[in-house]
Amino acid sequence: MGENMTLRDRVIYILESRKGEYISGQDIADTCKVSRSAIAKCVAALKAEGYPISSVNNLGHSLDKESDILSESGIRAVLGDENIEIKVYKTIDSTSSEAKRAIGNLSGNAIFAAEEQTAGRGRHGKSFYSPKQSGLYFSCVLHPEVKLSDAPAITSACAVAVCEAIELATKKHPQIKWVNDIFIDDRKVCGILTEAVSDFETQTVQAVIVGIGINLTTEDFPQELAEIATSLGTKTDRCKLIADVYSRLNALCDALPDKSFMREYRARSLVLGRDIRFTRNSIDYTAKAVAIHDDGGLEVLTESGETIVLNSGEISIRL
Ligand code: BTN
Repeated sequence: MGENMTLRDRVIYILESRKGEYISGQDIADTCKVSRSAIAKCVAALKAEGYPISSVNNLGHSLDKESDILSESGIRAVLGDENIEIKVYKTIDSTSSEAKRAIGNLSGNAIFAAEEQTAGRGRHGKSFYSPKQSGLYFSCVLHPEVKLSDAPAITSACAVAVCEAIELATKKHPQIKWVNDIFIDDRKVCGILTEAVSDFETQTVQAVIVGIGINLTTEDFPQELAEIATSLGTKTDRCKLIADVYSRLNALCDALPDKSFMREYRARSLVLGRDIRFTRNSIDYTAKAVAIHDDGGLEVLTESGETIVLNSGEISIRL
């Protein structure tokens, strides 16, 4: 628990770390080094804010096991004592834009999360639909020690980390549509935007901002998304999901030269072996996706028998 956390944050941290358990007011007071009455006051304020806490004489206070309130302390409680900056917003323009603005002041890794984005950004300059509460939007700032040439692998690593975390949380089996869109039942459930801050001189990556947007319970998609998007549809513990994605991402980024995660990437690929369409240098191609290289490149065999390796861009799958 961070030294400079407020009492409110400390109490949330303690209750979130032991969700569903009763913890005596005295124990919480001792941990926070304040009086029992200060804890009682704090717990009452949290209840007024909407925290589902039950307080029972002789037992103490317990945060409902099913509670799902997005907070910095809630994420920190899952991550443990990790030295990381965490910021949670009810609404923000874009968590990735906020991460970019803050990056100069960060001393290490960070997570920026929000319940709503008013200017969510997608890949290729597109916007990302980010309605209030029914989705989860967060950006992780990581500092992998990799050469610029290894940066594209981060994108594939992110897709694997997000799939595994979603699968653990929902028991559904997400797949990856090259490069890194996450699909469930042939519809997009999550988008990932990976941006790197690099040093041109040394050809190294200084930081990466991985922005992740997950449709949790969204049902009313705008017309242009209605046929292609879906949501997880099941209740998820948002703090846990963010912490799990972050931990997996951080571990993969630490071991990035080791491309063993590509096995998982290929196993979850929605495109391998399928007929696809893409446009390159203004020419439309129809091809079969035959392989995904360790650097993330998609090898395709075109209708005219030409082998091309795609390194970026959009493809569509022929149904
Ligand atoms: C895509 O599908 O094109 C990528 C979408 C990435 C959306 C996430 S939501 C959190 C973060 N903030 C943004 O503005 N974008 C990313």
